Amino acid sequence: MKSFMNTGLRALIAFCVSIVNVSAAENSQAAIQLEPGQLPITSETFTCIRDMTKVRGFYVGNLKGDIDATLAVANSETGGVYPPGSVVQLVPGEVMVKHEVGYSPVTKDWEFFELDVSEEGSEIRKRGFADVVNRFGGNCFACHIQAKPQWDMVCEDAHGCETIPITKEVIDLIQRTDPRCSDNEELTAGESFELFKLKLKVGVGSAIGTVKEMM
Ligand code: HEC
Repeated sequence: MKSFMNTGLRALIAFCVSIVNVSAAENSQAAIQLEPGQLPITSETFTCIRDMTKVRGFYVGNLKGDIDATLAVANSETGGVYPPGSVVQLVPGEVMVKHEVGYSPVTKDWEFFELDVSEEGSEIRKRGFADVVNRFGGNCFACHIQAKPQWDMVCEDAHGCETIPITKEVIDLIQRTDPRCSDNEELTAGESFELFKLKLKVGVGSAIGTVKEMM
């Protein structure tokens, strides 16, 4: 009986692993086969956040080289629609990229990415449109769609989105310590402690997020 249970359990685990592998293979294939007009985005696309251009508290770039068009919208007091190729980041692990007009009408052509970042670079953990859930169990789209229409799903602190429980100082600290950057300065003892506390919270949040994803 016991050995039957073991065999059954092993078979179940093997089955689950095979499902995970199949979906991983599908994902990597989707990244290689580009449709016409699709931006060639891979893990290498995302590097040190501070190599992008800072606008108020966040960073922008443009994968098609049209940074001026992206900056024009980011700096506009009345908002606007970000041009295709625009990349927006607040923290190293989360990115929004704007595709061509009509690519994903539901998400206003934005694609959401969650990255794992380290000194080696970025790994795309998740990418997609309305269904990307971050490691804390939050759906990117569900929050960002709350921004008033003129802000094109960019939340900042006063565009109508539910706020996130993290101060500007801590966001600044996270940007200054992006592990992908080669020129990070030393932190003061107080700053290191702030980051340590955040990492504890992120560890717990991430574990809760993973459990939610499994259920
Ligand atoms: C709980 C709601 C919530 C979830 C979930 C969420 N965000 Fe955000 N996000 C925000 C808010 C609010 C801000 C603005 C914070 C600020 O500037 O004070 C923000 C900022 C950003 C920014 C900078 C531009 C902007 O909108 O201000 C990017 C890029 C971003 N998030 C991407 C993502 C991605 C990608 C995901 C999913 C992997 C995600 N976010 C999940 C609420 C959320």
